[in-house]
Amino acid sequence: MPSNCQLLLFIILILVPKSIFLELSLASSGETLVSDWRPIKNLSDTKVVDAAKFAVARHNFEAKTRLIFDDLVDGEVKSHSGTDYNLTIAARDDGDTDYDDTPRIYVAIVSHRQFQEFMRLDSFRGPV
Ligand SMILES: *[C@@H]1O[C@H](CO)[C@@H](O)[C@H](O)[C@H]1NC(C)=O
Ligand SMILES: *[C@@H]1O[C@H](CO)[C@@H](O)[C@H](O)[C@H]1NC(C)=O
Repeated sequence: MPSNCQLLLFIILILVPKSIFLELSLASSGETLVSDWRPIKNLSDTKVVDAAKFAVARHNFEAKTRLIFDDLVDGEVKSHSGTDYNLTIAARDDGDTDYDDTPRIYVAIVSHRQFQEFMRLDSFRGPV
């Protein structure tokens, strides 16, 4: 019944958001989906600030630096079995001999496994 098919197609086109078509076409073309990062709306959220502070502390431990967390400037979150954070962090470098007290910008990826209360620093780069 062609008329029913057309009606169905019409309904799908009206009701299904464009982004789903985009994701389907990306998925079928074999490209990696990176669109599932969402901006963090509340940058004062304790969970997110804790993740940012963890990133700085963990980086200090790994790289023997002396960065001091200053502020969470921006962030994105991605949820799956846990939560990944892409955090833009302002930090002061207390180990820098030319220390001028100006916070610099670093970008950290932190993954958080909720059920294990486990946080991992996946990457830390900067100053950017
Ligand atoms: C953001 O999070 C902080 C800390 O949890 C909370 O006090 C504040 O009310 C939140 N702001 C909004 C707009 O939700
Ligand atoms: C994280 O955010 C920074 C700053 O917006 C961006 O340059 C970078 O590509 C992001 N990284 C990932 C893995 O999405």
